[in-house]
Amino acid sequence: MSEDLRKEIERRRTFAIISHPDAGKTTLTEKFLLYGGAINTAGSVKGKANSKYAVSDWMGIEKERGISVTSSALQFDYDGYCINILDTPGHQDFSEDTYRTLMAADSAVMVIDASKGVEAQTIKLFKVCVMRHIPIFTFINKMDLEARDPYELLEEIENVLGIKTCPINWPIGSGKRFKGVYDRDTKKISMFKAVSVGGAKGAAETEYGLDDDGLKEAITEELYDQLMEDTELLDGASEPFDQELVDQGELSPVFFGSALTTFGVETFLEHFLKMTESPLPRQSDAGLISPVDEAFSGFIFKIQANMNKAHHDRIAFMRICSGKFDANKDVYHVQSGRKMKLSRPQQIMAQDRKVIDEAYAGDVIGVFDPGIFSIGDTLCMPGKKFAYEGIPTFAPEHFCRLVPLDSMKRKQFMKGVTQIAQEGAIQMFQDYNLGMSEIVVGVVGVLQFDVLKYRLENEYSCDVRLEPLPYNYIRWVKDPSTDLNSLSRISDCKKVKDMNDNPLLLFANEWSIRIIQEHNEGLEFEEFKKN
Ligand code: G4P
Repeated sequence: MSEDLRKEIERRRTFAIISHPDAGKTTLTEKFLLYGGAINTAGSVKGKANSKYAVSDWMGIEKERGISVTSSALQFDYDGYCINILDTPGHQDFSEDTYRTLMAADSAVMVIDASKGVEAQTIKLFKVCVMRHIPIFTFINKMDLEARDPYELLEEIENVLGIKTCPINWPIGSGKRFKGVYDRDTKKISMFKAVSVGGAKGAAETEYGLDDDGLKEAITEELYDQLMEDTELLDGASEPFDQELVDQGELSPVFFGSALTTFGVETFLEHFLKMTESPLPRQSDAGLISPVDEAFSGFIFKIQANMNKAHHDRIAFMRICSGKFDANKDVYHVQSGRKMKLSRPQQIMAQDRKVIDEAYAGDVIGVFDPGIFSIGDTLCMPGKKFAYEGIPTFAPEHFCRLVPLDSMKRKQFMKGVTQIAQEGAIQMFQDYNLGMSEIVVGVVGVLQFDVLKYRLENEYSCDVRLEPLPYNYIRWVKDPSTDLNSLSRISDCKKVKDMNDNPLLLFANEWSIRIIQEHNEGLEFEEFKKN
């Protein structure tokens, strides 16, 4: 392995930002990009007044459909590091892609609104991070607004998410009385000064030591006393920083700040980059593959169809896991057994797509999909034959019966639903007893239903009706040979099969999951299906 290659890979940091809508993910991403020099003015990520779309947004077609962000990757250099931020769409765009993006990340930054604490969507995304044991960093945002008690926030993270926390800095007041943060390592106080708009990266922050004369005056006597109490309490009561526990995803370093006013962002970035690791080995059926292995390899974690309507193209997003990708060399697609050149490999930064010649382990690139890739597929060098662990199928939460309106177009209808399901935009099920004559689709975010209807009509000329079903939970039956018709107390559930004939049950609530397990001894369920 050449030293240059090793250096390139080791300076990479690839992470996803997770949060509940409105916690400040876009604002924080934008500030990171400002620091990295990738954009020049605040507001380019998400326009305010003129409601421009985020830099991480896709193409016109998404805008047309009212679907803005699909996960994309933003790359920039900062302080010698090469940073890949993977966007996980929030809002109503929340879909399986959001989960899958986390499979491509090496760590996650969790943004929490200081006035709200841990919210629903954060919990969902957090569960995927835990499943992968990736490091999770917490940025408690909006300290410039009235915030909840910091101890209470940490306790909530620990109790609701089940992860230990270690505050790296500590807030002094909040809202109108927000004075700044105390760095527990350097024992210095950075005074809060808002730098909100434009291209400014941040004003020089005034710093005080704990014993400095002017401190009490600067932060008021009351907050000074509180700070003295907090510093003692924190050292005694909070978890000590332990890099190993952070690496294993068991301890989350916590930072307080305010993304909008660019306060605490740079400190966060600096600590974070030191505390995260460069790309790690990934599991394959031939054992662990090291990122600094000379031979290129990667896996597909997302497929985006019809990025360009005129060409009906499909772009597959690949996370490179080892070596260097060279656009001029053949690669081997393990699942089809084909050798090929990946055409038009590109780095994607919102509307800008840059055709690239090379990329390294840790990077995410888009490649043209000739229609043969599926989510989870492995690409490697010819001569090597191994497959990376599959991407789990995540449990959808909304279900509809999908009915074609024109029975003459049944074939086209099935082709359309099957293809859209293969891309992973929806999950497709068949009735357990009626089979394919009753198709049920499941999604993680309801907007995917609109996407499905739109695409079936526009791309496959099939008009459809979606009939909502009253279920929100799905469980795979662990033993696939189980006869669902022989189970007792399942009149409230719907029995379906996935496209691989695995039996599943749809439930209205968690209570009915429990009842069924109680009445059917030995019946075991799975929430994720490992492919
Ligand atoms: P999201 O991507 O997580 O959904 O959140 P986003 O960054 O879009 O932020 C949501 C709202 O919160 C935005 O205001 C944003 O300006 C505001 N915000 C983000 N960080 C901070 C912060 O540190 N302090 C304060 N005070 N506000 C913050 P909005 O009014 O909903 O949208 P906009 O019209 O400003 O875009």
